[in-house]
Amino acid sequence: MTIKRIGILTSGGDAPGMNAAIRAMVVAAHHYKIEVVGFHSGFNGLIEDNSVILTDNDVSNIIQKGGTILKSARCPAMKTTTGLVQAASTLMKEKISALIVIGGDGSFAGLLALQNQWMGQVIGVPGTIDNDIDGTDFTIGFSTAINTAIEAIDKIRDTAEAFERIFIVEVMGRHSGHIPFNVGIACAAEKVISFENFPTNNTSAGEKEKLATLAKEIKLAQANRHSSYIIVIAENLWHGGATALAQQLQVTANIDCTACILGHIQRGGSPVAKDRILATKLGVGAIQAMIAGQSHIMIAEQNNCVTHVALQVAIGHQQGVSESLVQAQENILALTAQRLC
Ligand code: F6P
Repeated sequence: MTIKRIGILTSGGDAPGMNAAIRAMVVAAHHYKIEVVGFHSGFNGLIEDNSVILTDNDVSNIIQKGGTILKSARCPAMKTTTGLVQAASTLMKEKISALIVIGGDGSFAGLLALQNQWMGQVIGVPGTIDNDIDGTDFTIGFSTAINTAIEAIDKIRDTAEAFERIFIVEVMGRHSGHIPFNVGIACAAEKVISFENFPTNNTSAGEKEKLATLAKEIKLAQANRHSSYIIVIAENLWHGGATALAQQLQVTANIDCTACILGHIQRGGSPVAKDRILATKLGVGAIQAMIAGQSHIMIAEQNNCVTHVALQVAIGHQQGVSESLVQAQENILALTAQRLC
């Protein structure tokens, strides 16, 4: 069947490089004489039939822009039959043959759920700063997010050095440690606290034990300390986050810490070269896979090559942080940092 019209949307947490992916898909689709309909605000645009035909003009001068020109959103309605039926009815009404979604695992789950209501091709492109999708070495947005966090922490380091302060810097990543570990290592953080090396068993007893160990480590480092001490912590790890941890260290061990939450600054900004290039490769790959008749796949990059992974596999398991990175931080770098203090 010749494909004449496809739909694209961006869904979930926006990520720098989503615009580069939109551009690559529109340029590639037009090359193959395929019309592209962009749905606004994630799956909500599909449910409400809020769409626009994307022209070359719409995607010129966007490769360098953060955010997404199509807007993004989370869409709980895609977990309901009513929402799925409405989304499918829009796709049929708009005569769409294939739908490509740029997003994370939650967005891919929505895409897969559509298969019970709609017969068209479905393809995912991994776009999330969290880098937690299995089957691709990197997701679009991750490189920019870690660069943004690194720049911010380098600045925090300057003031921390000047005041000989301890900082606890909270970074994003939802429930994954890719951002904390990569950022922590790149900033030579004295300590990284993340799911992979600091499990608290989600109990207050677990947190109490970890708090005591952490206080001991900091005191040890403080004994000879004449400089700064930076702890990078994963969001969602500690009840109450970096602010609560700083307060608890003060109350239980008389350790003075300053908490800093980097937050959504990590989602914004112009995508770095790596994200622009990755987004472009995956965007073109998505159009080519679609023309080849592929469906229910995520376009991925493995060892610098564009490849395909079943969507079911991509969402089945969270991509783990490199074990060697965790071990290097825990067994060598963190200990070296204590020795250097
Ligand atoms: O998935 C991307 C992400 O930025 C996570 O790192 C973070 O936990 C979450 O989205 C924040 O979501 P929201 O912007 O909806 O608060």
